[in-house]
Amino acid sequence: MSLIPKEIVDQVIAQADITEVVGDFVSLKKKGQNMWACCPFHHEKSPSFSVSPAKGIYKCFGCGKAGNSVQFIMDIEGTGFPEAIKYLAKKYGIEIPEEQHDPEYAREQSERDSLFIVSDFAAKHYVQRLHHHEQGSIGQSYLKQRGLSANTIKKFELGYSLDEWTDLTDTALKAGYKQQYLEATGLTIVKEEGKKYDRFRGRVMFPIHNISGRVVGFGARTLKSNDKKSPKYLNSPESDIYHKSHVLYGLFQAKQAMRLQDMCYMVEGYLDVLSLFQGGIENVVASSGTSLTEGQIKLISRYTQNITVLYDGDAAGIKASLRGIDLILELGLNVNVVTFPEGEDPDSYIQKVGDTAFKTYLKEHAQDFISFKTSLYAKEAAGNPVKKAEAIKEVVASIAKIPDAIKRTVFFRSCSLIFDIDEQVLISEYNKMHLQGRQQQFKSGSPEPEYAPLMPEEEEEAPASDADVLQRYEREIVRMLLNYPDRVLDEGLTTCQYMLEQLEDIEFRSPLYARFVALVTEKLNQGVVPVADDFINYPDEAIRTEAIHLLSDPYELSPNWATHQIFVPHETDMLPYGTERAVLRLKFVYLKLMIDEEALKLKIVTDPQEQLNRLVAVMNLKKLHKQIGDMLGIVVF
Ligand code: CTP
Ligand code: MN
Repeated sequence: MSLIPKEIVDQVIAQADITEVVGDFVSLKKKGQNMWACCPFHHEKSPSFSVSPAKGIYKCFGCGKAGNSVQFIMDIEGTGFPEAIKYLAKKYGIEIPEEQHDPEYAREQSERDSLFIVSDFAAKHYVQRLHHHEQGSIGQSYLKQRGLSANTIKKFELGYSLDEWTDLTDTALKAGYKQQYLEATGLTIVKEEGKKYDRFRGRVMFPIHNISGRVVGFGARTLKSNDKKSPKYLNSPESDIYHKSHVLYGLFQAKQAMRLQDMCYMVEGYLDVLSLFQGGIENVVASSGTSLTEGQIKLISRYTQNITVLYDGDAAGIKASLRGIDLILELGLNVNVVTFPEGEDPDSYIQKVGDTAFKTYLKEHAQDFISFKTSLYAKEAAGNPVKKAEAIKEVVASIAKIPDAIKRTVFFRSCSLIFDIDEQVLISEYNKMHLQGRQQQFKSGSPEPEYAPLMPEEEEEAPASDADVLQRYEREIVRMLLNYPDRVLDEGLTTCQYMLEQLEDIEFRSPLYARFVALVTEKLNQGVVPVADDFINYPDEAIRTEAIHLLSDPYELSPNWATHQIFVPHETDMLPYGTERAVLRLKFVYLKLMIDEEALKLKIVTDPQEQLNRLVAVMNLKKLHKQIGDMLGIVVF
């Protein structure tokens, strides 16, 4: 049995709010009674992960994971029950009486829990050494000299490892921690002859946290400026709890700000994160010197789709890291880039110019990645046709990664301007790559296309055409109008008033349903509420027949209700919700059609000004489309 007293467990469970607990890990959006997000347990592009605040549970309709707050923490952390309770207790400020190192308790912990616990011990030990050991003053004065405040040092739990061989190992063993776990986390190095010593000695310690704030590893900076033998930074090795490709330094501290500002700043080093955070730019994370991985980008995309990469270094260094950025594009995120003057990194620069000037600098120097890359290559290739051809290939390869066809079109255009070549040259280069990509894919049998297809039409694989879907949704609106014309919804409007007002700007494409809408509008304008009989007895046979169909199945479930059976099947119970969804769904498909039509027109326009106008119009439609998609919980790429 767990050693945490039962009444404490009960208190934790009672106090843990499912939306707060889950909300620390994913961005939840309210839709109807529930909150929705993309599932953190499996990869998906449209949200099927739901949280019911009323029931206190989460459930993913995609992968089936479900449970309460405690289960969620166990699932996402891969820990056992007691550790999950401890996590929640900490979050809600509930004190758990100190448990002794009871052998029974130890047996109950999983291996992972043990690694978390020993890492936590080490982090606290290093903090203690920094502040309360005479050697700690070396670390303290270093951090001070780097401009870090006591607050930042505390917030990031910075510490110091004594310049001795076994300070941590001895202390930990004496306190009852097992050598096995000290070794597995890499804190202690054990030689073949059984000799053991601390990995980190005489270094400032930067604990690395996972998204829930638990220490999983360390970065450690030496204070000896000209010691050629030992590297400037030492890092924890990979372990069961520390997978470098799935961790970002600073993410735990940055995630709220990332969500609020809908932006993530990417830097290279620990000190860059700390200086920016201290300067009020809290939405900052570091890849810690390695190139970005897919796992890291997916972590970021739980909180925002916008990344700004802050580069230090020269053109050569930047070029080497450009490939990593393609990965961000490929995953559909937006990338901006800021570079700094020669010899400066984000940390040195913010220390030099101050917070305010730094923020202004970011604003003024942010450039979208494709234009940045294009300019970088174009400058080099000027006057050299061979180089220029290579440069074009490079840039087109990046554009090809962007999943959104309209965005690609925009970038081809801006690139053609910068390179001063015909856009068609870029597009045919793209098509060549696309073809090669496909052939390779065919040979290797890989299911993932290497390049996203150019034409928006090719991306659609829905069995029903958009026009069919539109007609279905138009029918759904009319069905609601006929069945509940005078039902009063949330804002005091009736179904008829609400829907017609919402759809004022939309022309129904199906002639039959357009007539229904016209008839309802006419009635309303005369000051009368249409009733079923008006339609059932209508002179025109087409109207009559359809009206009878629509009125005979008043409880037909809308498509979403049928698949997500958690919704109450009585449509009348949730009419405000149902009518809102129906309107949104119609708008969503309607906009999709308009975008496609505009995109087609765009292809035949030749006047540059006209082209630009249309492009802007398409982008605006896209934005609206995405907004409505968001409201519906559909992710639009
Ligand atoms: N890094 C690392 N291991 C190294 C060198 C660097 O992990 N041997 C990572 C660290 O995350 C470090 C980042 O790369 O913060 C940047 O390193 P570097 O460019 O060498 O940092 P500087 O700005 O020169 O040094 P400082 O940390 O003192 O600012
Ligand atoms: Mn630096």
